Amino acid sequence: MRNINWTELSFGYVKADYNVRSYYCEGKWSDLEITNSEQIPMHMSATCLHYGQEVFEGLKAFRGKDKKIRIFRMRENALRMQFSARGILMPEFPVDMFEKAIITVINKNERFVPPYESGAALYIRPLLIGMSAQVGVKAASEYLFVVFVMPVGPYFKEGFKATSVGIFRAYDRAAPLGTGAYKVGGNYAASLVAGEIAYEKGYSAVLYLDAKEKKYIDECGPANFFGIKSNTYITPKSSSILSSITNKSLMQLADSIGMKVERRQIPIEELITLEEAGMCGTAAVISPIYRIDDVDKNQSYIFSKDGKPGPISIKLYNKLKAIQYGDEEDKFGWVT
Ligand code: COI
Repeated sequence: MRNINWTELSFGYVKADYNVRSYYCEGKWSDLEITNSEQIPMHMSATCLHYGQEVFEGLKAFRGKDKKIRIFRMRENALRMQFSARGILMPEFPVDMFEKAIITVINKNERFVPPYESGAALYIRPLLIGMSAQVGVKAASEYLFVVFVMPVGPYFKEGFKATSVGIFRAYDRAAPLGTGAYKVGGNYAASLVAGEIAYEKGYSAVLYLDAKEKKYIDECGPANFFGIKSNTYITPKSSSILSSITNKSLMQLADSIGMKVERRQIPIEELITLEEAGMCGTAAVISPIYRIDDVDKNQSYIFSKDGKPGPISIKLYNKLKAIQYGDEEDKFGWVT
């Protein structure tokens, strides 16, 4: 293995030794298979290629000071993958097999779990794809589950530093009754053009408004949005955003430190009243936002004049990391 510079890792593919797979055929999932191949042989008319029959997940494992490896909330990912699979007519991957696959892939690639001191983590990427050869628009009869891993640093290159995001009203991420709540590849493809425009203008992500009325805050690029005001953690309630496990954890943490938690529609005008804002997700953890520009309306909302994260964001971030790395007791039962 080439030497990995653990402290310089960004969020990108790094080849590990093994991945774990299971095939669905005639209504049954096969036993888990361990392979060192990075390739997936498939028919050119597989449904994942033509009709986007693909769902994926993202979760992380952390090495503690005690050298133990802790996997964060993997059951939640297993359940969310089942929810996504149902959403695009794919068979559910059983929760117990999912958990076994995750533990197996980590054990087989243990040397890729970054050391505690690096602050990096092992990112685990399960995916489920429609494999059968078919040209008519209907669900496949055969599927493949794969899980691979890679050591990662921060998703946004700034790490836990505040960045700015932009609202671009000409783009929607997902329709209210569409696939926005499922973790399907198509949602991310749909965000690429607006994302590129945002990066070119120096923003780290697009802050999407609800697609129907353009009145409420929706998803924030590849992450959920949250705001803080008057000791309250506020995050959007919407049928078109992904139910982030990190966001759910932050809501529980906020509640545990005596904050109020509100999951509700956030009208865009309310941004002006927020004391702090941020994006959150497995990959992003917390990425604080210092400014939101409503680009087409030429209006800016500023949350941090010195570009530094706010005190509550710092507190929640530190608490979450402390549980993930085993520095603080896991009172919630989140860690395996
Ligand atoms: C995650 O936070 O795990 C994600 O899946 C977001 C992105 C990397 C697609």
